[in-house]
Amino acid sequence: MAILSKIATNDRHGENSPYFDGWKAYDKNPFHPTQNPEGVIQMGLAENQLCFDLIKEWISKNPSASICTAEGVDEFKDIANFQDYHGLPEFRKAVANFMSKARGGRVTFDPQRVVMAGGATGANELITFCIADPGDAFLVPSPYYPAFDRDLGWRTGVKIVPVNCYSSNNFQITREALEEAYKKAREANINVKGLIITNPSNPLGTTLHRDTLESLVTFVNENNIHLVVDEIYAATVFKSPKFVSITEVIENMDSNINRDNVHVIYSLSKDMGLPGFRVGIVYSYNDTVVDCGRKMSSFGLISSQTQYLLASMLNDDEFVDNFLAESSKRLAKRYQTFTKGLEKVGINCLKSNAGLFFWMNLGHLLKEQTLEGEMMLWRMIIDDVKLNVSPGSSFQCTEPGWFRVCFANMDDETVQVALNRIRAFVCQGQETSSESPKKKRWQKNHLRLSFSSRMIYEESVMSPHSPIPQSPLLRA
Ligand SMILES: Cc1ncc(COP(=O)(O)O)c(C=O)c1O
Repeated sequence: MAILSKIATNDRHGENSPYFDGWKAYDKNPFHPTQNPEGVIQMGLAENQLCFDLIKEWISKNPSASICTAEGVDEFKDIANFQDYHGLPEFRKAVANFMSKARGGRVTFDPQRVVMAGGATGANELITFCIADPGDAFLVPSPYYPAFDRDLGWRTGVKIVPVNCYSSNNFQITREALEEAYKKAREANINVKGLIITNPSNPLGTTLHRDTLESLVTFVNENNIHLVVDEIYAATVFKSPKFVSITEVIENMDSNINRDNVHVIYSLSKDMGLPGFRVGIVYSYNDTVVDCGRKMSSFGLISSQTQYLLASMLNDDEFVDNFLAESSKRLAKRYQTFTKGLEKVGINCLKSNAGLFFWMNLGHLLKEQTLEGEMMLWRMIIDDVKLNVSPGSSFQCTEPGWFRVCFANMDDETVQVALNRIRAFVCQGQETSSESPKKKRWQKNHLRLSFSSRMIYEESVMSPHSPIPQSPLLRA
């Protein structure tokens, strides 16, 4: 076979990580309340499935918004023929309107600056292509979204320099940590082009304070580098403090701030729970980025059928207002049920106010306080407890014992099954003197688990039906 490209043969896609191994374990043995009640419960997928009923109701009441219905079919030809990379004007207007509402109506967005991409995945890559060259780097506070390695680096050749954050201050980003990472990178001759943050944070589920955001803007301004803020979880905020968007911050800062270096990433995958629609947005204050990004968006356009439907849905102010209010109420309730249930068995989570997950501390259950200890515990949780939670190490967290738990991708009954399993697992671990059969299994597994067993495990999760394993990254 003739030699393939560097992209085809490098492994920066990042699929070989525990984050995705857990998904494979789920795919192999998925939980179903009646057909497979002993299966793995998927708690590693940041999907928002709590408000589908509202979307379904809107679609039923608005058949003309779909071009494949008797009421909408007259538009079929025009929409199916549309192929302009600027996007439908009414779609960009509707998205700008929705982005404003998702930020409490405190800022407005100019539809002329809305650039389309294939999900936030495509949007993050697109902005990287616009502001960095192969070999350049971005500072990214850790713990961070595992697929950033793929999105920011795989095809662009751009590197990530983690800015380590710690539990001692609830994983907040500090100016000192930023300065240190920046200095070290420069000493290593790495050309840092920007700082990328997610606000609200994945995996922490927390929002950044206005002061912190101002300090980040000052930092990038002083160093003349870019600031990219991935606000994909903007409307998942379900508790105070309120979400503060970077757009709100820079509009209130003085005129010395160079807005040309500030870019927002958005998507409807989380706030609306529509990851399958692949609606990603780059919103930039930089005219050249908008212009170049638009041309690049030819590689990841949103289908005109999707644009047409969403233009209609997102321009319905009453629907959007109700949806956002209801969604945040349901997320709050789910978060409360889960975290309170865990508290009862002595498991604490980082206090959070947003996102589709929480950051659970199982440090006290580790046999040894190392990342290997974390992997041993994680494997037990997957193999015995049959829950796919994601280990902190896959988010580049440097402190062992943290796990991200997704809570909005399942129904109430599954939540109870998951909580029962966690309770049983923790209580079993606490019965130190008991010699119950379950306890023996825990101990046996504890001894058996090692990194070599991990390799065997990885091989065994490959699909028996296909020589090419199914890509879990398709559903990041
Ligand atoms: C922080 C962050 N950015 C981007 C993405 C990718 O989103 P999309 O489905 O819109 O590509 C995710 C998905 O989990 C995410 O958490």
